[in-house]
Amino acid sequence: MGPFDWLPHAPLEPLRLDWLKGVELAVLRLDRIDPLISGNKWFKLTGHLAQALNARGIISLGGAYSNHLHALAAAGKRFGFPTVGLLRGHPQDTPTIQDLKAFGMQLHWLGYGGYRARHEPGFWRPWREQYPDLHPVPEGGGGLVGAIGCGVLVEQARAQLPALGWADYDAWWLAAGTGTTLAGLVLAEAGAHRVYGAMAVPDDHGVAKNVDALVQGGYELLDGSRGGFAKVDPVLLDFIDATQQACGLPLEPLYTGKALLALKTQIEAGRFTAGTRLIFVHTGGLQGNRGFTG
Ligand SMILES: Cc1ncc(COP(=O)(O)O)c(C=O)c1O
Repeated sequence: MGPFDWLPHAPLEPLRLDWLKGVELAVLRLDRIDPLISGNKWFKLTGHLAQALNARGIISLGGAYSNHLHALAAAGKRFGFPTVGLLRGHPQDTPTIQDLKAFGMQLHWLGYGGYRARHEPGFWRPWREQYPDLHPVPEGGGGLVGAIGCGVLVEQARAQLPALGWADYDAWWLAAGTGTTLAGLVLAEAGAHRVYGAMAVPDDHGVAKNVDALVQGGYELLDGSRGGFAKVDPVLLDFIDATQQACGLPLEPLYTGKALLALKTQIEAGRFTAGTRLIFVHTGGLQGNRGFTG
């Protein structure tokens, strides 16, 4: 399969919000790269696809609202390669699952125990036997190849600084789920600018360990999970609403809403002084909003 030379462009836009206290903020809109293949997912997938030259398609894993499987299935339909999704839990009919089916992804529900076994050594063997011509991609498109694919975001942002009137910037701010996207930015920055990751999952999910396996230094992880992955509270939902009303930026509650709210908390606590220039990465995920609004 491949190579796929589709390189979508992520616009960099100024963000004006009343809680910034003189900090200057721009948002790299990965949610705007494509109507279907949205967010950080394509960038993480590019490296995996490049490794799949001798395969006919891709097999990967995720949950019933997975942004990763959604982007993968949409890419398979767009570029004409077969996709198989291994799903956490028991059959459900979410808007994401309906899309996966419409995009032609073949689904297998593993239950919860079956899904938990995904890190065990023998996990892939039966799937390789069933789908010998499909290339396995880890959950979320992670690992070093996934991270390297995100490096291009640094180039894209830097190329757009003059349009903002910025000669430079001080740091990046983004949500971390596995930490793969963050690691990609750290690698591409090679120490030039710090990368802050607001964790969307509690620390015991191993984000710090994942990132540490990929990069050494140049980043900082903070807890942005608000009590757990996918835990939503009224303050968060009000913040997402208020942001949309104030500047039109759509956020979702699992990653981007929590990450931007964590930034607000840090600015209020005085972590960044007036005049600091930050790039917030909108990592997409808006398709998952349908799980919350019906
Ligand atoms: C919308 C969204 N933002 C951020 C992330 C986190 O990305 P990473 O796993 O590369 O840290 C994910 C997925 O995990 C996601 O779906």
